[in-house]
Amino acid sequence: MSTRRDFIKLGGAAGLAAALPRESGAATDGRYPVVTVAPLPGIAKGATLAFTYPDVRSPALLMRLGEEAAGGVGPDRDIVAYSTLCTHKGCTVGYKPERKLLICPCHWSTFDPAKAGMLVIGQASQHLPQIELRVERGLVQAVGISGLIYGRHTNIVLAR
Ligand code: FES
Repeated sequence: MSTRRDFIKLGGAAGLAAALPRESGAATDGRYPVVTVAPLPGIAKGATLAFTYPDVRSPALLMRLGEEAAGGVGPDRDIVAYSTLCTHKGCTVGYKPERKLLICPCHWSTFDPAKAGMLVIGQASQHLPQIELRVERGLVQAVGISGLIYGRHTNIVLAR
């Protein structure tokens, strides 16, 4: 699994961004930060990438599922990202590529990343918050959240 730090060490984003066409996903309304997660060409089918959003206390996971997904970006609309804090009691969910599901190890709540984080089975009563993505100049960026991150009264937003 790669991290954002690994991406920064590679240092290739600027050159890649200049060479690639613009493609948009979710729009940003200014309430959330815009965070670059990875260059689009560096995300292979089946890859996962841990990052944080909208702040460093909020773990998230980007996945390229290999099949079109709700809210997916990229040429195959198969790149999605979610908060990894389970909506039941906040344990960290993990992606099981063989099942294409996000599963919580605490009480086995199971979420479908191809269907906007929909709860499939388990103790949770809310879907997993989906990180809204866009592709801008060849870079996959996080620009918002759909759903409330576990333990929050509100998701952190930027001061206007
Ligand atoms: S904390 Fe995830 S199912 Fe209970």
